[in-house]
Amino acid sequence: MQPELQTEVRRQLDLDRDRTSPPAGGIAVPPIPAQRYIDPAMFALERERIFGRSWLFAGHESEWPEPGSYSEYVRCGAPVVIVRGEDGELRAFYNSCRHRGAPVTREACGTARRLTCQYHSWSYGTDGELKAVPDARNFVDLDMSSLGLVPLRCEIWDGWVFVNEDVDAQPLIDFLGPIGDQMVAINGPGMRFVGAQRHDLACNWKVVVDAFSEVYHIRTVHPDNAALLYDDQALVLAMFANGHARLTVDKRDELRDFPMVSPEYDNPSVPTLWRQTSTSFGIFPNLVVPMDTGAFTFLCMWPTDVNRTELELRWYAPAWVGDEVPDEHLGRMDLFATVMAQDTANLAPMQASLGAHGAPPLQIGWHERLIHHFHRSVDLAIGADRLPPGLAVSDALDGLVEP
Ligand code: FES
Ligand SMILES: [Fe+2]
Repeated sequence: MQPELQTEVRRQLDLDRDRTSPPAGGIAVPPIPAQRYIDPAMFALERERIFGRSWLFAGHESEWPEPGSYSEYVRCGAPVVIVRGEDGELRAFYNSCRHRGAPVTREACGTARRLTCQYHSWSYGTDGELKAVPDARNFVDLDMSSLGLVPLRCEIWDGWVFVNEDVDAQPLIDFLGPIGDQMVAINGPGMRFVGAQRHDLACNWKVVVDAFSEVYHIRTVHPDNAALLYDDQALVLAMFANGHARLTVDKRDELRDFPMVSPEYDNPSVPTLWRQTSTSFGIFPNLVVPMDTGAFTFLCMWPTDVNRTELELRWYAPAWVGDEVPDEHLGRMDLFATVMAQDTANLAPMQASLGAHGAPPLQIGWHERLIHHFHRSVDLAIGADRLPPGLAVSDALDGLVEP
């Protein structure tokens, strides 16, 4: 992160802590209709126009370590396989054979020179080209060159892999905008996958994104962990184009420079401001990344139904030597599991009340305004004119979005 930006965020943190009245320039954040979280038509639009057209997080480039490394990816809604070609390129294809649509791999992950359909053994190269068709004599005018696996977009930014079903989508780097520039401070290429944790939650995916877009809850929900470390009175929030966001909450004075990670596992490229705060990036539509100096997680909210979400935590840490995951990283994952249990306990009951007939709109505070930014970005991605009547949020905060 650029030194000027660090200085500016520090200045704003102190201003926010010291104020005794609403901030200069603060505006009333308009409420959010409860029906946005339960409406099946809205959910169908989100599936089609957001998850079918956005850059979605898939992992770190090291998770496909060699030519032929592949893994299934079912996050877009369609079955996908991500594979590293013999030429070293990482590519994504629909996991759907061009013969009659059976999967070309049934393994979650592995390494192979060919992806071979288990139905009638059509077989594809790691670049997606159709290589072999048993009994080809039975297919009149067979043009193998036009029957490769159907590709999706797959791009890498600083080591982080994203896929997108929309072949006309803007390049990943343009989509990320300033977030991309700020995230490079973590030295993405030097990271390594630690492990994943999954939670099946009985609520709409936006309830989960909301929950990780504010720290207003930490005093009440995390009194024995996060609230001891962070000063929730000192916040700096940034809203960016395309729905992205940055949230910085200061550490308490006495703990600000206390090392939380042993020197062996510390990421030296992490800037001072991130060490002295918790700074997390919200990447639209469904990713929150609380950066840290040791192991940290990418929180991904995957809708499985209008009132069901899989929350996936994918953990990464600065690359270490050897195959075993260091205990320090496993310990951090365990500790976070406690925090997550506290975070997620309210979400299913909230969904139940949002689904009650005539549930009133949600009130959003100034420190929670990233929630509104996220919802407004959902509307913009769908197209406000396509939304069911009465479900759109206001555009009142549009002027606060940084280019
Ligand atoms: S469906 Fe794949 S070979 Fe027949
Ligand atoms: Fe929390």
